[in-house]
Amino acid sequence: ISLKPLHTFQLPYSASEVITITEAGEVAELVGDYLVLGEGSNTIFTCDFSRPVLRIAINSINVEETDEGFHLSVGAGVNWHRLVRDTLEQNMPGLENLALIPGSVGAAPVQNIGAYGVEVGEFITSVTAWDREQREWREFSQQQCEFAYRDSVFKRHPKRFVITKVQFFLPKDWRPRLSYGALVDIDKHASAYDIMSAVIAIRNSKLPNPTEMPNAGSFFKNPEVTPTAFNAILQRHPDVAHYPLANGNIKLAAGWLIDKLGLKGFKYGGAAVHLKQALVLVNNGKAKGEDVVALARYIRQKVAEEFGVLLEAEVRLMDDNGLIEL
Ligand code: FAD
Ligand code: EPU
Repeated sequence: ISLKPLHTFQLPYSASEVITITEAGEVAELVGDYLVLGEGSNTIFTCDFSRPVLRIAINSINVEETDEGFHLSVGAGVNWHRLVRDTLEQNMPGLENLALIPGSVGAAPVQNIGAYGVEVGEFITSVTAWDREQREWREFSQQQCEFAYRDSVFKRHPKRFVITKVQFFLPKDWRPRLSYGALVDIDKHASAYDIMSAVIAIRNSKLPNPTEMPNAGSFFKNPEVTPTAFNAILQRHPDVAHYPLANGNIKLAAGWLIDKLGLKGFKYGGAAVHLKQALVLVNNGKAKGEDVVALARYIRQKVAEEFGVLLEAEVRLMDDNGLIEL
């Protein structure tokens, strides 16, 4: 079965089998090894796959209103942006900064999706998952999810948990979150719906649409460096894009680092650095798995040489054995 339409980087590989389940109970009956896949917008298959791929088509959305806000219980198969749009259209604000992030609700807690100064973890009250190791159902509280920048307990145990449902709380005491650079010009009195529209416009101007130019969003995470390491970089590059963190360290923009090396448009076979956003790698339609791996390794090595920073993959780059180490 072709994996090309099942992941947004669209490499031409196949899987032995794709299993789709529509009810949570079915997951407890599965035996043997398999890979859980949502909409494939953060996964790159670099070769044929001998393990079955499991897709979770649980598409329910339940809402309970209280005086304080809205409690949502959402199936893992629901499209993330559909949830954002539906909640805003029904006057339940909160998720507007996270508009247009591709993918499924089930994958959202895995890397704690974030954009424009907001991360999904702050709205998640609990996650329901099947524990493949202990063969039991688990309910993770927000704290047990261990959310961090592009990280969670689910991401750290990639073969262990199958998320079937995610619970959210959207408080009625809503405030706009406009501190992220690209949003500072938005009117302070803008509605949540207007903020969603602005976020969509910004994203469309920067990020390639995977249906037109296959990609998986940011390829690397933005790295965190110590003040000492940061000062060494600042000596050579006084204009380096950076953000101070609460813990005293500094977050660098990996896209800026790659851009500074002049790598926009740089190609390896059919894989290339996107011309408008250097943190996004794209498939020109003819890329092979080895092109993507070679390009990623080349970028990582060049960034390490120039800035002394080791980039980590943000995407899940997979071969038949699991995650590929860069
Ligand atoms: P998949 O790629 O299918 O899966 C991702 C990982 O989660 C895999 O390891 C998979 O095994 C696991 N997984 C999926 N579903 C489940 C489940 N039900 N239970 C357990 N594990 C599961 N991300 C951001 O955070 N912010 C952005 O702004 C952003 N912008 C993007 C822009 C573009 C153009 C693209 C292509 C991607 C972008 N991403 C962004 C990355 C991507 O949207 C997110 O990582 C999203 O959560 C992936 O969802 P998915 O369903 O496609 O996941
Ligand atoms: N920059 C450049 N050149 C480039 C790319 C970026 O100079 O080619 C500079 C920008 O000018 C800006 C800074 O780098 O000063 C940051 O760029 P941008 O605002 O585009 O965001 P990013 O750091 O590249 C992160 C997330 C995105 C998320 C946006 C908005 C990561 C790894 N990426 O990108 O998430 O949408 O912020 O919040 O944290 C994803 O995870 O797939 C993703 C797209």
